[in-house]
This record gives sequence, structure tokens and C-alpha cells, in this order.
Amino acid sequence: MEDRLETIKWTLKKYNQEHLLNQYDNLPDNKKEELLNQIENIDFELIKSLYENTKKELKTQEAKIEPIEYLDKYKLNDMYKYYEEIGKKAIKEGKLAAVTMAGGQGTRLGHNGPKGTYDIGLYTHKSLFELLSDSLKEEGKKYGVIIPWFIMTSRENNSATIEFFEKNRFFGYEKNKNIFFFVQGELPMVDTEGKILIGEDGLIKLAADGHGGIYESLVKNKMTDKMRELGIEWVFIGGVDNCLVKMVDPVLMGIAIDKNVTAAGKSVVKANPKEKVGVFCKKNGKPSVIEYTEISEEMAEATDENGELLYGESHILCNLFNISAIERMGKESLPYHSAFKKATYIDADGKKVVPDGPNAYKFEAFLFDAFGELDDMAILRVKREEEFAPVKNADSAGVDCPSTARELYMKYYNL
Ligand code: UD1
Repeated sequence: MEDRLETIKWTLKKYNQEHLLNQYDNLPDNKKEELLNQIENIDFELIKSLYENTKKELKTQEAKIEPIEYLDKYKLNDMYKYYEEIGKKAIKEGKLAAVTMAGGQGTRLGHNGPKGTYDIGLYTHKSLFELLSDSLKEEGKKYGVIIPWFIMTSRENNSATIEFFEKNRFFGYEKNKNIFFFVQGELPMVDTEGKILIGEDGLIKLAADGHGGIYESLVKNKMTDKMRELGIEWVFIGGVDNCLVKMVDPVLMGIAIDKNVTAAGKSVVKANPKEKVGVFCKKNGKPSVIEYTEISEEMAEATDENGELLYGESHILCNLFNISAIERMGKESLPYHSAFKKATYIDADGKKVVPDGPNAYKFEAFLFDAFGELDDMAILRVKREEEFAPVKNADSAGVDCPSTARELYMKYYNL
């Protein structure tokens, strides 16, 4: 034990993080052990470089960014049926699985609980999870299959999510047979000096590492093995916060199969230059997404000769991957983006600090940073009113909120 503690102290000194043990002596034994385990698992070199990156300029300018080519689902003419048939055949053969990313905290929405448990105010009071499961089950029926459903949670919301599903009898799914849950990864948060924060529980303040960790989490948690056992070849990955997400799309699948690409993504036309969506582009000749937090104003507003936004193919977090691509990506590391957030923590004197504004960095990998590694990718432009009704903010924001999502949902389903 002494040796272990000494090694840890040495590491902390090396990385200027000695404060992490300030309150160690006051912790109960089980927490002492947990804290030491956490410290041993921190990649201090990584944290150091991530912190240093927060002080550098955005790299987007250095890369060669160009608009991306896409197919318009409703301008495919005869090819529509052709792709659809290919996709339908693969779905009937049970080759498709769906993954829902539900690890986010839903802070902007102001909902206390997993975002998927949120009721957008339909007269049925169905939660987002139930709306998604309804559509997945309905679509499966059309092809005579049950589409296996994989749900990514975070440490913070995993048990609440599973309890919610239990209470709802998994909406007809069977746990570990056709519905599976797995937990995403986390990274420590650091303050503006690069110091790792201690949370109110006396342990390292961790935050979800973004959905870019999804490939690794699918592999590490043996979800990809499970998919292989089930005969899955194609995996749709979408967010939990789009109540019109179309997880089963034979046209998208047919295109991916026919074009022999390992990934395909859906886009909708960006509503206006300021809309909070990432946009598809080519980065150094490879498919990519520039996130709304990272795009320059000039680029966001640039138009082509027809007056359309040059970077107008919004990434709606609806992407399809070949399972081999996921397995490959699960072994690669992705870059991290930093976000400046508000984080309550325990200071060096053991006092709780509740900040008024952002005070700490959180590091997240984005799943689309892997797109450039995935050979090529097909982009399919779809109709916003059919596939994109995001629930991001509280109603007071007026956009991407429960009332706008509810309206879009009701219109689409003629309710
Ligand atoms: C996201 C996309 C953006 C896209 C928009 C469409 C990112 C970084 N950006 O923005 O390109 O145009 O959606 O609506 O995703 N999640 C996790 N774990 C995490 C973080 C997020 O599971 O660690 C899940 C959330 O539960 C949610 C989804 O990922 O389902 C999107 O996350 P969010 O942080 O809300 O992304 P946006 O900023 O809205």
C-alpha cells in the first residue's frame, strides 16, 4: 500500500497534480481505494496535451475544407427503387442493428434524468425512448424481423436508464436478446490552470468523453461480438434526441452496399447559417463534419452561384456503418475537442465551489472525426420534415425544443 501510494504521489508530482490527494486522508476506506484506482487509470500525458490544446487556435483553418458531394433521396429517380431493393433484402436477412446514443446529460433541456426518458408533451405522454422504440418495432415488422437495439448510456445515467426500461418492460424488447445496454467512457475535467478537478464526492471529476468513444465502447463492451453473433453487418448510429430519427432506411443501406462504402450519413439542408448543427464537408479530400462550435462565420455564410449555402448539408447524427469499420475504429484513437463548462468542485482547501459561469474544460471525441478514416462515405440528403425533429433546448429557447419537436412529430404522423 505504501509503495502504491508513493508511486502515485511521484506521478502526481511529475504532472503537477498533487492536489488530487489533498483530501485523501478524510475519505472513507472504500473511496480511498476508488480514488487511487481512478488516479492510476488517468492518462496524464493525454490530459496534459488536451489542456495545452485548449490554448491553441482552431485547426480547421489549416486543413483544406471543401463542400461534399451528396445524393438527394428524392432526386434519385429510377435509382430509388434500385437502392431500396438492395437495402430491403439486407434488412430482411437480419443484417441491420440500431444504436442509440443516450449518454448525454440533456443540460440544455433542463430535464432531470436521462434525456431518453423525456416526455415531449404528446397526448400519449410517450418518452423519447418509447417514440424511438415504436418506430424501430414498426419498421422491423415491415421486413419480418426484430431490429436489435443497442443503447449507449453514461456512468451517470446508466442505472436510471435501465430502471426506466425495466419499468416499461423494455417496450416489448428482451434484455440481452434483442436489446442491449453499454456504458460510454469518461475523462477527467480540468480547470483553467490544467489542474484536474475533484468532485463533491471526493473523487476525480469525470465527464462523458463524447460520442466519439462509441466505437471503442462498442468493441470493449463486446457489443460488436454480440452483433456478429446475431449476423449483423450494418449498424445505424443515431442520437436519442431526434424524435423523428429514421433508424431503418433501405435506401440509405442500399446505397452503402451498392457503392461499397463502409459508412453512409444523412443530411438535411441547413435552415440558416447560424443553425446549431454540424455540416458535412471534405477535409483534406476525406469526408468530415465541421461542428457548429468550430465553423467560421465566413464559411457558415458562404453561398454558391445559386445562393445556396456552400456548407449546407447538415449532419443530423444519423449515420450507418459497416460493422468491420466499427471494429477497426474501435482500435484507433480520435482527437478530442474541448468544451468550457460550469463544474462544481472541491478546492485545494476542501471547500465546495459552485461557479457562476464556465470554469473547467471537458474533453469530448466526436463520432464524425472517424469519417476520414473510413475509406469513403456516401451522403444522402433527406427531408428535414421527415427525419429531423431535435429536442435540445427548453421551450423558452424557441428552437429545437419540445414544442417544435412535438409539432413536427404530429405533422409527420398526422396526429
Ligand atoms: C449534435 C452533433 C451535430 C449535429 C446535431 C444534430 C455532436 C458533437 N454534434 O450536436 O453535428 O448537427 O447533433 O442534432 O454530436 N451523446 C452521448 N454521449 C456524449 C455526448 C453526447 O451519448 O458524451 C449523445 C446525446 O445523448 C445525444 C447526441 O449524442 O443523443 C448528441 O449530443 P449533443 O451533445 O446534444 O450534440 P449537439 O450539440 O446537439
